[in-house]
Amino acid sequence: MNDFIFHNPDKVYFGRNIMENLPKELLKFGKKVLMVYGGGSIKKNGLYGLVKNLCNDNGIELFELSGVEPNPRHTTANKGAEICKKEDIDVVLAVGGGSTIDCAKGIAAAAVIESGNVWDLVSTGTWVTDALPVVAVLTNAATGSEMDGWAVISNMETNEKIGLGGSALIPKVAFENPEYSYTLPTYQTACGAFDIFNHVLDNYYLAGDATFDMVLEMQEAVMRSVVKWTPIAMAEPENYEARANLMWASSMALNTILDAGTVHGCACHAMEHELSAYYDITHGHGLAILTPRWLEYILDETTAPAIARFGVKVFGLPENENAMDGAKSAINAVSDFCFNTLGLKSTLTELEIDTTHFKAMAEHSCNGGVITGLKNLTPADVEKIYEMCL
Ligand code: NZQ
Ligand code: ZN
Repeated sequence: MNDFIFHNPDKVYFGRNIMENLPKELLKFGKKVLMVYGGGSIKKNGLYGLVKNLCNDNGIELFELSGVEPNPRHTTANKGAEICKKEDIDVVLAVGGGSTIDCAKGIAAAAVIESGNVWDLVSTGTWVTDALPVVAVLTNAATGSEMDGWAVISNMETNEKIGLGGSALIPKVAFENPEYSYTLPTYQTACGAFDIFNHVLDNYYLAGDATFDMVLEMQEAVMRSVVKWTPIAMAEPENYEARANLMWASSMALNTILDAGTVHGCACHAMEHELSAYYDITHGHGLAILTPRWLEYILDETTAPAIARFGVKVFGLPENENAMDGAKSAINAVSDFCFNTLGLKSTLTELEIDTTHFKAMAEHSCNGGVITGLKNLTPADVEKIYEMCL
């Protein structure tokens, strides 16, 4: 395993009765708050009114930026940064899913640079060490943005979707009440769940020469939990235990506990971000289509034992003395989970994606090199995997 530093300063309030703590946490940073949210789900489920009342009752001056898109645009983040500069905002409050939290992070980073343009940071791969503080109220168990130092920002003019990272982007405080995810549509529940699953799988096996067994076991436990609780959350949207397991799994998957000592490959994520950059699809759905094909593509005598282990530990398949057969069963189990249990469409063709941009997308996803992982992928490999998804 690799050496590592673990440092995650995010303070998490988790559970039903947590929101009364919001004002005191915001006031630690100041009285002027920019609330960032998406297309209106928080108005329907009452969260918007609750946050407004809590702020009004506690002398907090609230400014608003609404309309953050799924796959948040750099232009929206720039609008927020402009408000921060003009109004001298002290803290950015994200209320929503990963897109809203990511946009809030982009705003927080752009607000402290002269140009106020987040794309200046994203396009240069700048590691963000200075930003306004971000506080997050999570409504969708999916991305892990509530506890990580990443924001994924899209530029639709250039078909680019790129991660902006930095220690200053980790939310200072996150509020996670599983009840806020009760109103999620079934499709978003499924896509979010598979995003969690893939965050773990994309870092699985990658502890280097020596495996880091404790971390592997923890990774498997989180994936198992997603497999167990997602169908329950889909069938019973107000099942607290199911929503709570998924929400904490979302945070665990990317708060760096589960990738301690590993090498970050993130093959499926690198390939998927191109799909959502070009076609604006839902991130978790793109991952679901790619994952079984990626596993199939990298399957050979050297990778079979690890993939077979995953089938046994995560899907409860029987041990198979023949690693290749065990690995094939594991890949079938992933497909079954994605396309039967989660009910997601299984091909890119069904999402109206064809081969037009595959070459360019494959080149971008490898970023001038290869995607490292259990098996390294070149642009030619990535193109073949996209073709397998048609
Ligand atoms: O915009 P609103 O009206 O809020 O509706 C959203 C949106 O339409 C809705 N929604 C969210 N919570 C809801 C709800 N609807 C009803 N009830 C609720 N409680 O769901 C839709 C999708 O929301 P979005 O925030 O886009 O979903 P998600 O949380 O999956 O975020 C996806 C974005 O995060 C990025 C993805 O690439 C994508 O851009 N990622 C961010 C990562 C990070 N920061 O570390 C890592 C991930 O791998 C991922 O790339
Ligand atoms: Zn993801």
